[in-house]
Amino acid sequence: MDEQGQMTGKKVIVGVTGGIAAYKAAELVRLLVRSGVNTHVAMTEHATKFVAPLTFEALSGNRVVWDMWSHETSPMDHIHWGQESDLVVIAPATANFVAKMANGMGDDFLSTMVLAATAKILVCPAMNTRMYMNGAVQRNLRELKDLGMVVMDPSAGELACRTEGPGRLPEPEEIMDRISMLLSTQDLADLKILITAGPTREPIDPVRYLTNRSSGKMGFALAGAAAMRGAKVVLVSGPTSLCPPSGVTFAPVNTTEEMRREVLDRSHDCDVVIKAAAVLDYRPKNPSERKIKKENRSFSIELEPTPDILAELGSGNRGGRRILVGFAAETNDLLANAKTKLKKKNLDMIVANDVSRTDAGFDTETNLVKVVYRGGAIEDLPLMSKRQLADCLLDRIRKIWESAK
Ligand code: PMT
Repeated sequence: MDEQGQMTGKKVIVGVTGGIAAYKAAELVRLLVRSGVNTHVAMTEHATKFVAPLTFEALSGNRVVWDMWSHETSPMDHIHWGQESDLVVIAPATANFVAKMANGMGDDFLSTMVLAATAKILVCPAMNTRMYMNGAVQRNLRELKDLGMVVMDPSAGELACRTEGPGRLPEPEEIMDRISMLLSTQDLADLKILITAGPTREPIDPVRYLTNRSSGKMGFALAGAAAMRGAKVVLVSGPTSLCPPSGVTFAPVNTTEEMRREVLDRSHDCDVVIKAAAVLDYRPKNPSERKIKKENRSFSIELEPTPDILAELGSGNRGGRRILVGFAAETNDLLANAKTKLKKKNLDMIVANDVSRTDAGFDTETNLVKVVYRGGAIEDLPLMSKRQLADCLLDRIRKIWESAK
């Protein structure tokens, strides 16, 4: 599997219509090609006024079609293209093109191709804010959704017409995320999964805190992969510098108690809980309300244990349908410690993470783990990216879910 999900070898048609955001479609085509996608571009005639077909031809390595009547266009291309591809992406989709699709019009290559397409269609509207908010445009967009097309909300910000508001074409990377999601196997579509990520933070005084080195990368990778595979995902995360993956419900927290409340409140209807967060085990017993002044003497901070969130979930889960997955970050006696935690917290599976290595554990791009199952089986996984590991772990969780049915 590749980093973007399962995109290699897929065929995607990018339909470019006549708006200023057409220039961003060039970057989208570049990203698709880089992900191994067989990318073809169809343009409206108006779009060719903004970007030359040659640009897309050079980027995609394929002939660009914009003239239905050109001798280079085969008479059946408008039928075949949308039936032999995995996805059609209209980016940018102008108000005019949205109206044509909503009303079943086919007066050029792209619009007739959309009419005949059996592939999924992703529409990315981009236009002036007032045009976007216009009742007729909104009605047409609703119509497209009713017809089964996926409509991506435009982003808000400064537009080419020097106004501010919704109407901007989302960045090509965001469109790629949505494409990747639509091309992925939706094998987790029946599951609701709660995932925790990042560290927790416990105040010492108003300006200082205790925390650990968790970057959130492992938990965010799990959330992104699960959402990509169709799961409903709730991501409860301590402070990190990462952006939540698209399509997940995000609940940011600071302290262990805040994480505990969010997890307990939000997990009651979840099928799976995965706790990748590095939760602090201790917190200052009496955090100072004022900044502690520097004095020329040593002093101690009394620590008390934090609530063990996973153990609390595990104790309420006996005989339940919910799958509980923990992580164990260890510097020594990896398997022995992981097995003890699995048992003590009543888990279905624990991911034993040797955090003494430089290529695994905290704030790394890769990870190396052993998976320990409730029945005692142990599986050694090779070193891989956190995103690839996320998919591997979700495969195992899917199997546990199936066997528990
Ligand atoms: O965030 P990254 O930089 O990508 O790093 C990833 C990671 C190293 C943080 C991750 O792979 C990992 O190992 N997470 C678990 C870290 C940890 O706190 O392990 P633990 O052995 O202390 O805790 C065992 C399990 O109990 C964990 O699932 C933890 O979330 C949970 N726990 C722990 C303490 C507590 N008070 N409440 C809990 O729920």
